[in-house]
Amino acid sequence: MAAAAIKFLHLPALIFYVLLLPSAGSTAPDTLNNGGNISDGETLVSAGGSFTLGFFSPRADVLSSKRYLGIWFTVSPDAVCWVANRDTPLSSNTSGVLVISSTGVLRLLDGGSGQTAWSSNMTGASASAVAQLSDSGNLVVREQSSGAVLWQSFDHPSNTLLAGMRFGKNPQTGEEWSLTSWRASNDPATGAYRQVLDTKGLPESILWQGNVKKFSTGPWNGLRFSGIPEIASYAGNFSVQVVVRPDEVAYVFNATAGAPFSRLVLNEDGVLERQAWDPDGRTWIVWMQSPRGVCDNYAKCGAFGLCNEDGAATQFCSCVVGFSPASTSQWSMRETSGGCRRDVALECGNGTTTDGFRVLKGVKLPDTENATVDMSATVEQCRARCLANCSCVAYAPADIRGSGSGCVMWKDGIVDVRYLEDGQELYVRMAKSELVKEKRRAMEKILLPVTLLVLASACIYLVWICSLRGRATSLIFLQGRHRNNDVHKKMRGFLSASDELGDERLDLPFICFGDIVSATNNFSEDNMLGQGGFGKVYKGMMDNNKEVAIKRLGKGSRQGAEEFRNEVVLIAKLQHRNLVRLLGYCIHGDEKLLIYEYLPNKSLDSFIFDAANKKVIDWPTRFKIIKGVSRGLLYLHQDSRLTIIHRDLKSSNILLDTDMCPKISDFGMARIFGGNQQEANTNRVVGT
Ligand SMILES: *[C@@H]1O[C@H](CO)[C@@H](O)[C@H](O)[C@H]1NC(C)=O
Ligand SMILES: *[C@@H]1O[C@H](CO)[C@@H](O)[C@H](O)[C@H]1NC(C)=O
Ligand SMILES: *[C@@H]1O[C@H](CO)[C@@H](O)[C@H](O)[C@H]1NC(C)=O
Ligand SMILES: *[C@@H]1O[C@H](CO)[C@@H](O)[C@H](O)[C@H]1NC(C)=O
Ligand SMILES: *[C@@H]1O[C@H](CO)[C@@H](O)[C@H](O)[C@H]1NC(C)=O
Ligand SMILES: *[C@@H]1O[C@H](CO)[C@@H](O)[C@H](O)[C@H]1NC(C)=O
Ligand SMILES: *[C@@H]1O[C@H](CO)[C@@H](O)[C@H](O)[C@H]1NC(C)=O
Ligand SMILES: *[C@@H]1O[C@H](CO)[C@@H](O)[C@H](O)[C@H]1NC(C)=O
Repeated sequence: MAAAAIKFLHLPALIFYVLLLPSAGSTAPDTLNNGGNISDGETLVSAGGSFTLGFFSPRADVLSSKRYLGIWFTVSPDAVCWVANRDTPLSSNTSGVLVISSTGVLRLLDGGSGQTAWSSNMTGASASAVAQLSDSGNLVVREQSSGAVLWQSFDHPSNTLLAGMRFGKNPQTGEEWSLTSWRASNDPATGAYRQVLDTKGLPESILWQGNVKKFSTGPWNGLRFSGIPEIASYAGNFSVQVVVRPDEVAYVFNATAGAPFSRLVLNEDGVLERQAWDPDGRTWIVWMQSPRGVCDNYAKCGAFGLCNEDGAATQFCSCVVGFSPASTSQWSMRETSGGCRRDVALECGNGTTTDGFRVLKGVKLPDTENATVDMSATVEQCRARCLANCSCVAYAPADIRGSGSGCVMWKDGIVDVRYLEDGQELYVRMAKSELVKEKRRAMEKILLPVTLLVLASACIYLVWICSLRGRATSLIFLQGRHRNNDVHKKMRGFLSASDELGDERLDLPFICFGDIVSATNNFSEDNMLGQGGFGKVYKGMMDNNKEVAIKRLGKGSRQGAEEFRNEVVLIAKLQHRNLVRLLGYCIHGDEKLLIYEYLPNKSLDSFIFDAANKKVIDWPTRFKIIKGVSRGLLYLHQDSRLTIIHRDLKSSNILLDTDMCPKISDFGMARIFGGNQQEANTNRVVGT
C-alpha cells in the first residue's frame, strides 16, 4: 500500500483532485478519539491516503436526501466498499454525526431526530478506546492501552471484499463474513443476492438468491476454487488462500506490493466481479466475473449431467458416459435439471463389488455440500474407501497440489459438473460391464493409428503416382481445378441427398486425406487449435508451405454430417473479405474434413474475455472489428446471391487475421432464407 501511495502522489491530477475535495486536505485525521465526533462534511482519511470515511449519497441519486456513512476509495469516491447504515438511511440530509463513546461504541446519530440510526453493537471496553481508519480500508476500534481490537468494519462486510478481509465463517461462534448485494446501483439497502462460503464439505463460495442456489465456484482444491481457473492468471498481483482453523474457515486475498487497488464486488445483479483500478485511465477494470455463462447456472444439467459451454448443439447438457437422461421428454424440451440415470445398475453388496471407476477429465468438481471429506487420506486410500462403500458414487482428491492428496467422496448424486479449461479429474463409479465397453473402445483407439498409417502410406503412393503424371496434389490444392473424380462423385451424392443446391457445380477442391494427416502431423495434440461442438480444429502446413486450419468433424455424428453439408454448400459459394475462406474438403471413410484459411489471431472471444488480451485491442481496432462483422453480415443477408442467416454468431465464431480484420466462421447452423421457407421459419431453438 505504501507503494500505491507513492504512485498516487506522483500523479498531479490526483493531487489536484484531492485538493478539490472539501475536507480531504492534508489535515484530515485518520483517528477518531474518545468522545469525538464526525459530522456530515467531515471525513477520516487513512494514513496512506487510500481510503476515506465520511457521509455520502449514492451517485445518480443526488435528488434524494438520503445520507449514509461509508468508506470509499479516495481516488474513486463512487467505489464505496463499506456502508454502516445501509438499511437505515439518515432522513435529514446533512445533519448526521458519528460519535464514539468513552467505551469505544460507535453510534450514528440522526441530527434531526437525535435517534441512533446505527451502532457498532458491542459491549464497550473498560478503558478508553479510539477508532482508526487503516490504510487497508478497515475501520478499527481499539482499546487504547492494550491495543486490543474491540470492533472492526472488516468483520461486517457490505457488498465488497478488500485485500486482507476474511470471507467465511467462524465455526465456533457461527459468526459469518459474507457479501450482500445492494438493492440497486444507487441504493445500498440489503439486496437480493448473498455470496457465502459454504464450509460443509470443502469450502466453496455460493451465490444465493433468497434460498435458491444460483452459482457455485466449485470446491477449493488447495490452489483455487475448482470452477474459477482464472485465479491463476492474477496470481502475480493477488495471492489467494483459504485458511482452515478451528476458529476460522475463510477465503482471504492479499495484494502484492505494487499491485493496483482491487475489490471483489457482488453487484446488484448477482454478479461477483474482481475489479482493479487503472490509475492512468482512472477507471475500474473487470479482471474476473462470475457467473460467466450458461454452464455456471447452478446444477443446470442435474445429477450426473455434464455442462459444456461449447456444446450449443447439445443444449449444453449431456450425461456422463454410462448414464442417460432421466426423462427424455423433459430433456428434449430443454428442461435438463432432472439430470441423468445410470444405464446399468451397480453391483455392490455382500461386502464385495465388481464395480470400477471412469475418470472424467477437465471438469469442475461437483457440489460438496453432502460429500465426505478427509484431508489426511491418500488418493489410493480414497479409491479403496469409495469402492468399499456402496453408497459412494464418485471420488476425487481434495487437494490437487503436488501429486494430489486427501479424499472427497460423493454419495447419491453429483451435481453442478461442467467442462472447463484447467479442470480436474473426477472418478465416477461404474458397473463392470460399462467399463468393459470402454476398454474395447480404447483398443480401437490403439488400432486406429495403425490403420491410418497404412492408409497414409497408400495415399503417399497415390501422390507419387500423381506426381509422376505431373499433377501433384499440392497443385490441386492451389488451383482448385483438378479433382479426384471418384470421391468427388461420392461427395456430390452425399451433398445432393437433401440439399436443393445439389445440382449446382461444386467449385471446391478435394484434398487427399494423406496430405491432411501429414499436414497436421497425424492430428497431433500440438497442432490442435480448438474444439467446438462438432469436432476438433487443427493447424496444418500443406506441402506448399501454406498454413491452413483443418476442421475434423466428429465421426459418425449425424450433426456433423449436416454441418459438413451446410458448410461445403454455403461457404463455397460465398466470397467476402469478412467471411472465412473454405479452401477444400475431404471425405475419407467415416472422416469428414474441411480446410480453411488459417487465421493466426484466433477468435474474438480469446481477446475480449481475456484479462491480458483485452488490453491489446484498443477502441479503433474494436470499431474496425464491429464494422467488419457488420459488412460480412450485410453480405450474407443482402449482398450475396443468396440470403443467408448464420444463426450462430458469437465472438468465438469471429476469427481475426494478422491485421485484426474479422472473418465470420462456422456456417454449420446457417440456413438459406427464401429457398425453403419451411426450413428457415422454425421455432426450434438453435445456435446462439
Ligand atoms: C461533536 O463535537 C463538537 C465539538 O467537538 C461538539 O460541539 C458537538 O456537541 C458534538 N456533537 C455530538 C452529537 O456529540
Ligand atoms: C438539505 O435539505 C434541504 C431541504 O430539505 C435542501 O434545501 C438542501 O439543499 C439540502 N442540502 C443538501 C446538501 O442536499
Ligand atoms: C447486537 O448483538 C447481539 C449479540 O451479538 C444480537 O443478538 C443483537 O441482535 C444485535 N443487535 C443489533 C441491533 O444488531
Ligand atoms: C499485475 O498485473 C499486471 C497486468 O496483468 C501485470 O502486468 C503485472 O506484472 C502484475 N504484477 C505482478 C507483481 O505480477
Ligand atoms: C496475507 O498477509 C497476511 C499478513 O501480512 C499473512 O499472514 C498471510 O499469510 C497472507 N496471505 C497470503 C495468501 O499471502
Ligand atoms: C450376495 O451374495 C449372494 C450369495 O453369495 C448372491 O446370490 C447375491 O447375488 C449377492 N448380491 C450382491 C448384490 O452381490
Ligand atoms: C444435500 O442434502 C440435502 C438434504 O437431503 C439436499 O436438500 C441437498 O440438495 C443436497 N445437496 C446436494 C448438493 O446434493
Ligand atoms: C458409507 O458412506 C456413508 C455416506 O458417506 C456413511 O454414512 C456410511 O457410514 C458409510 N458406510 C461405511 C460402512 O463406511
